[in-house]
Amino acid sequence: MDEEEASIEAPPTGAELYAEYAELRAQNPVSRNEGEPWRVARYEDVRHVLKTHTDFSSEVSQRMQEDEGRTPTMLFTDPPAHDRLRALVSRAFTPRQVAAQEKQIEARCERLMQGLASKSRGDLITEFAAPLPVGVVATMLGVEDGDFVQFKHWSDTIFTNIGEILIGTPSEAAVQAGGEMSAYFLERIGRLRERPGIHLLSDLVYVETEEGRLTDGELLMFCFLLLIAGNETTTSLIVGTVRVFHEQPDLFNRLKLSPELIPGFIEETLRYHSPFRATLRKARRDLQIGGEAIREGDLILPLIGSANRDEAVFDSADRFIFDRKPNPHLAFGLGIHSCLGATLARMEGRLAVESMLRHMESISLCDPETPELDGFGAPASVEVELSPAG
Ligand code: HEM
Repeated sequence: MDEEEASIEAPPTGAELYAEYAELRAQNPVSRNEGEPWRVARYEDVRHVLKTHTDFSSEVSQRMQEDEGRTPTMLFTDPPAHDRLRALVSRAFTPRQVAAQEKQIEARCERLMQGLASKSRGDLITEFAAPLPVGVVATMLGVEDGDFVQFKHWSDTIFTNIGEILIGTPSEAAVQAGGEMSAYFLERIGRLRERPGIHLLSDLVYVETEEGRLTDGELLMFCFLLLIAGNETTTSLIVGTVRVFHEQPDLFNRLKLSPELIPGFIEETLRYHSPFRATLRKARRDLQIGGEAIREGDLILPLIGSANRDEAVFDSADRFIFDRKPNPHLAFGLGIHSCLGATLARMEGRLAVESMLRHMESISLCDPETPELDGFGAPASVEVELSPAG
């Protein structure tokens, strides 16, 4: 863990990160340092690990399994527990329900972007890319306006400590934020059981199949899961789009003229700047990946960010090709755990870009060396220079 923490303190730039991935794919496609998880770097191997849940378990968090009374989130469960949670939660996550959020998200983009685009310099993260997804998740969970600042604080504290929460010893601040957030949502869930609201959490309280309803513990874990899975990833996607505009300023004008190209541009950003760089699995038995012998219980890191740059699958993989077709990237995972929020994230990305195009003539990074990611998430701050639309 010490070495991992050291690398989190000094995040690599994008160029360093992708050079390291390229070397792994070429020289050591399945490898590990003593005491660390196996890193799986090639597309076909990453794909295999993600889709073969019968060999690769998602019950990776020793802490979660050992913590009595804690309900694990669906991200860290295997079937049959996962099947039940996913079936129930999917019902409140349909394309129709996501589409119903479009107007509200567009208005949120508009409000935030007006603030950012009124200046020639600003912080993309704090002024737009972080509050947007946190606001979207808060609305889904029925967090009232007055509680938003508190919710954002819990979200930030929990995410900053996510590594330790899963596999180490969480900080006092994270324990306190987790406790406060649990109390807040348990109280709200109790009230929703008496009187429904108009938001996703309320839908989930009432969703029912032959498997029964979600328990309070399961609902609470779902609130935490949305924070972990939905916030930083979407922030990183938005930062990724601005990195591309920095490197290819002409593309900004191209998309202004042909907005129908934006969805393809978002797909390529997801491939090129994968927000969810890697996930974690545990081998269920002795097996082989790419000829390497893996022992039952070994931890495995499928490097999604590396798979998405694999030259064996993507022509000119290190070039950003905004209309790349086909684009079978793995940014949203694959198989039974594939991202439940993918439709929502794509929509948030599209609406964010549309609002940039509406309000600006150009946007670029003040420091092109800004690290790609910081630990598990987006950097805390990304200064941008922009020219507002006249
Ligand atoms: C660009 C943004 C996003 C990316 C790149 C992303 C990526 C991913 C990936 C790779 C997984 C699978 C992890 C694994 O297999 O271990 C995942 C799972 C998940 N994501 Fe996302 N995600 C994004 C946004 C969101 C949003 C906005 C939400 C909801 C608000 C969300 C909810 C979930 C949930 C609930 C799961 C767990 C699914 C399961 O275990 O069955 N994600 N996401």
